[in-house]
Amino acid sequence: MDLCKPVTDAARYDAIILGAGAAGMMCAAVAGQRGRRVLLIDRADEPGKKILISGGGRCNFTNLHAAPDRYISANPHFMKSALRRYTQEDFIALVDRYGIAWHEKTLGQLFCDGSARQIVAMLDEECRAGGVEIALGRDVSAVEHGDGRYRVTVGARTVEAPALVIATGGPSIPKMGATGYAYDLARRFGLKVIEPRPALVPLTLGGDEALFKSLSGVSAEVIAKCGKTAFREAALFTHKGMSGPAILQISSYWRHGQQIGVDFLPSQDSGWLVEAKRARPRAAFRTVIGAALPDRLADTLVERLGLHGEMGNLTDRALEQAERRLADWRFSPNGTEGFAKAEVTIGGIDTDGLSSKTMEAKRVPGLYAIGEAVDVTGWLGGYNFQWAWASGSAAGQAI
Ligand code: FDA
Repeated sequence: MDLCKPVTDAARYDAIILGAGAAGMMCAAVAGQRGRRVLLIDRADEPGKKILISGGGRCNFTNLHAAPDRYISANPHFMKSALRRYTQEDFIALVDRYGIAWHEKTLGQLFCDGSARQIVAMLDEECRAGGVEIALGRDVSAVEHGDGRYRVTVGARTVEAPALVIATGGPSIPKMGATGYAYDLARRFGLKVIEPRPALVPLTLGGDEALFKSLSGVSAEVIAKCGKTAFREAALFTHKGMSGPAILQISSYWRHGQQIGVDFLPSQDSGWLVEAKRARPRAAFRTVIGAALPDRLADTLVERLGLHGEMGNLTDRALEQAERRLADWRFSPNGTEGFAKAEVTIGGIDTDGLSSKTMEAKRVPGLYAIGEAVDVTGWLGGYNFQWAWASGSAAGQAI
């Protein structure tokens, strides 16, 4: 793929898009195919690097259940318009048009059968179809605004356009070159930024709970809860604390100082331990608990509950207490594994300053922000790419 086309001599464009990631490529393709002259700039030497590593290399490119209630933002209504106008079905139709084979893994999550590279190649082809110029491996050294035009210095050249799109993503995974550049630029234009935090990130345990680290590698299906939010998926103990889809999901809702609750036996009905005592009074408590849990986890939980011996020798009250604890085991994480391990960033450019229809800054005509840079964060499972496609398309239709 010859992705690095030279920037041509003409310095004037209809739109300059900073960031050739998921959102920037979609935006460029849509605008280009509407006849706009678009320059797409990225400091990396190839576009869509996060797409390439996503979904374990198979890119979980959307989710069948994408809907506004699966996104977190200070304004829970902001994403509605864009998600409605560019849906998961629209992206699936595009993928189908390119003959890219895909499958549903679980919970509506759609992955390529082959490689994430197919998605990047598809977006690149869409950009080509729109005549988009792509400038890769070049740092933006200056952005200026005056006379209704944006002037961007990239490498040795200055280019200009009446529209500038911020699509440089969030600071998660800095070793891939991710930075807070979008926020700095947005602030320079007077936009507010909601405190960025790592999200979809493993939680760390310390103190008394550090004991659970000895379960590193053990996983179980649980319900993880934080406040009113709950996710039923796998949790995984790690040498630092907890991870796995259920924990990554709940991490986006967790704040320092809060507890999370874990239901280790989500399939059991209320009163099951007392019923088990009636049915099998000679069975060991450890045996009953262990029937539905991995061995090492059952050992640790039984140790912590301090209940031993035969079921028939334990009081109903003790069993009811144990059941309540197993259904809402409290952990007090002491932190997260940070931006280095976060799949996305929660927070970002405040949606209050943006049009939900076009992603244009309300008070800075011609300035747009899309994708992860904006304060819209999806659940795990293809929701973040769907936001990138939808917000990119919304801006691409407007510039
Ligand atoms: P994105 O990060 O994709 O692109 C930003 C671009 O801007 C990059 O190309 C970067 O090089 C460029 N840039 C940054 N600073 C710049 C500057 N100063 N000048 C010029 N260019 C600059 N989501 C999902 O829905 N399904 C999944 O399977 C996964 N899997 C996944 C795995 C891993 C390991 C991570 C880290 C993340 C995911 N995600 C995901 C999240 C998903 O990758 C993310 O939400 C989107 O890539 C966001 O798209 P954007 O285009 O906004 O940013």
